[in-house]
Order: sequence, then C-alpha cells, then structure tokens
Amino acid sequence: MVKIAVIPGDGIGKEVMTEALKVLAQLQRDDPSLQIDTTIFPWSSDYYVQHGFMMPQDALATLRNYDAILFGAIGDARVPDDVTVWEFIMPIRKQFQQYVNFRPVKSLQGIVSPLAKNMDIDFVIFRENTEGEYSNSGGHIYQNQPQEMAIQNTIMTRLGIEKIVQAACNYANQYGKSKITSATKSNAIIHSMKFWDEHTKQIVARTAPTLTLESIYIDALVAYFVERPQDFEVIVASNLFGDILSDLGSAIVGGLGLSPSANINPEKEYPSMFEPVHGSAPDIAGKGIANPIAQIWSLALLLGHIGRPDAEKRVVWAIEAVLQAGAVKTADIGGEASTSQMGDAICQALANSK
Ligand code: NAI
Ligand code: MG
Repeated sequence: MVKIAVIPGDGIGKEVMTEALKVLAQLQRDDPSLQIDTTIFPWSSDYYVQHGFMMPQDALATLRNYDAILFGAIGDARVPDDVTVWEFIMPIRKQFQQYVNFRPVKSLQGIVSPLAKNMDIDFVIFRENTEGEYSNSGGHIYQNQPQEMAIQNTIMTRLGIEKIVQAACNYANQYGKSKITSATKSNAIIHSMKFWDEHTKQIVARTAPTLTLESIYIDALVAYFVERPQDFEVIVASNLFGDILSDLGSAIVGGLGLSPSANINPEKEYPSMFEPVHGSAPDIAGKGIANPIAQIWSLALLLGHIGRPDAEKRVVWAIEAVLQAGAVKTADIGGEASTSQMGDAICQALANSK
C-alpha cells in the first residue's frame, strides 16, 4: 500500500485538491491494483491563525513516513508571504532534499497557445530547488538609518549544481533528447554563475557526451521562449531563473491553471512533493472557478514517480481528451465550466475509456 500525504493548503489549493482526489478515486475504482492510502493534513494559513505556526514541530517527521506528498498551494492575506514560504514550502523542499524541481511545458490538444496556433511546444525545466538565490543567508541592518542596508546571498555549491545537472542529463538520456539548455548570466554575475557554467559543462561532458549543451543568458532565453519555444528540449536552471522560466513556460502553453510540477528527491531517500506551479489565487478563491488541471496533472506526475506510469499516462490522456472535446473549459482557458465540472469531466473520460 502506497501512502500519500495530502496538503490542500489555502485558497484555490483546497478547491483543486478536491478534484484531484476525485480523479484518484476514479482511477482506483477502475483499477483495484492501484493501492493508495491518503491522509489529509490541514496545514495552511488557517492553521497558522489558530496555532501561530504553519505546521506542527514534528510535521517533517510525520511526512517522512509517507511515500509522496500531494500539495495544493499556500498563501493568504492574513499571513505574510515570506512566513508561508519559509515556514512551510522551503523546509519541506530543503529538508527532504527535493533538489529537482521538474516542470513539464507541453502543448495540449484543445489548448491554443497565446503565441500562435498549432505550436508544438514540448520541453521540461529542471530547476534547482534547494539553494541558489533562494537562501536565507544575509541580513538587514541599520533599520531606519541613512546607512540602512540589506544583503541577500546566493549560495551555489558544487554538489548542488552537479546534482541538478546530473538529473537533467539522466532525463535527457532516458528520453532520447539531443540537447540541454542551461540558463545563465555569467557575463554579469561573475562568481556564482561562472561557477554554474563551469560545473554544468563538466557534468554534461562526463555523463552525457552525446548531448549538445547550449548556455544562454537568461534575458535572451526569455525572449526565445516567446520567439522559438519549439527549439527547447531540456532546460536546466538555478532556483530563481527556473522559477521565472516556469511561469513563462506555463503562460506560453495556456496558463498557470494547466501547469504541474514535482519537487523530487531522486534518490527516494525522502518523500517527493507534487504541486501545481500556481499559488493560492486569492483573486478567484472561493468562487469555484479555478482550473483543477494543474493539480490533477501533478497527481499524474506523483503516480509516475511511485511506479505507476500507466496511471500517469491515463490521467494525462483524459485531460487532453476533455480539452480536445472542448465542451468543458474553465474561465482561464476561455470557457464557463466550474472547477468541479472540469474534475467530473476528467473522471467521466477515465470511466468511458476503461
Ligand atoms: P497565483 O499563481 O496564485 O495567481 C496568479 C494569477 O493566475 C491569478 O490571476 C490567478 O487567478 C491565476 N490562476 C492561478 N492558478 C489558477 C487556476 N488553477 N485556475 C485559474 N486561474 C489561476 O500567484 P500570485 O497571485 O502571485 O500569488 C498568490 C498567493 O499564492 C501569494 O500568497 C503567493 O505567495 C502564493 N504562491 C504560492 C505558491 C505555492 O504554494 N507553491 C506558488 C506561487 C504563489
Ligand atoms: Mg513560482
């Protein structure tokens, strides 16, 4: 029996998680060999308001007993964003060594890219997830004095770079890709980014010598995402660059409502965590109109990770079948369907295809 910890979180996280759990129940009805047990945890901003912390002291010890974590989103006006991020998401990603943030960017049947019709976009982003620009090293001193200053350090370690580039190379080798694109800015950020370039080059040469490695400055790369996104296959990026590239990646294939992600500990020493790229979307929370596809696709990635690529494929197929049929679409992709109507349509497609 596989054990999954489910953390819906805040805002639309709760709404889209309901639909992902419906899809999981449907899959289990269709295939009794899919033995998965779920436990729902209420850790969220509501929890913070009640208890003064985002999750209990022993939360990580509790989560450690699970095979994987399915997470919705977090973020609420009552709690500062740096508290929700640094007391919840970051400890899980960092303590569980989820150093790969894997984000597929793929055109879906039935969704027209805002860039152009029939654009066949299909690449993945490997974002470093535990160090880099998102470190808590630094300080803010001389508050309210003329010499007030803030320092935010970027931490790049050789091991950290090697592990994320290795994960990208392994993926490229496994799926027969021909090229890896590294996002850099070593012309201006001359210490950490030159270090990144150097070790990226070494790892690719050593472990994937048949692959072409291109290093592109981040400012040019964002332009290429718009001008020629079909050219990319596997992108490897630091924490900040990867974060920005994945929201742009989502936008060019139809928006945040469609984009899944996985925080992976490739060694499987700790549980990995699967979550949509989007946040808690306070502007639409509570209206029942959020698109649940990003969450449902994140569930699919989880199923692949726990050794059920067949179930992963079925879910992605069902998502595309519904989008292609076109009758059920949420507002973000030009329709009027509710969150639960979209979830129901995907369950129905699964049931019909049994
Ligand atoms: P957001 O991703 O929540 O929303 C950005 C825009 O996309 C909004 O207009 C929203 O309505 C739309 N959107 C997002 N997901 C959608 C969906 N499934 N269906 C339809 N429309 C969707 O990002 P924002 O507004 O910058 O942040 C809101 C809160 O979420 C903040 O508190 C932020 O810190 C948090 N956040 C949390 C993340 C996480 O839990 N991993 C990731 C990003 C933001
Ligand atoms: Mg982001």
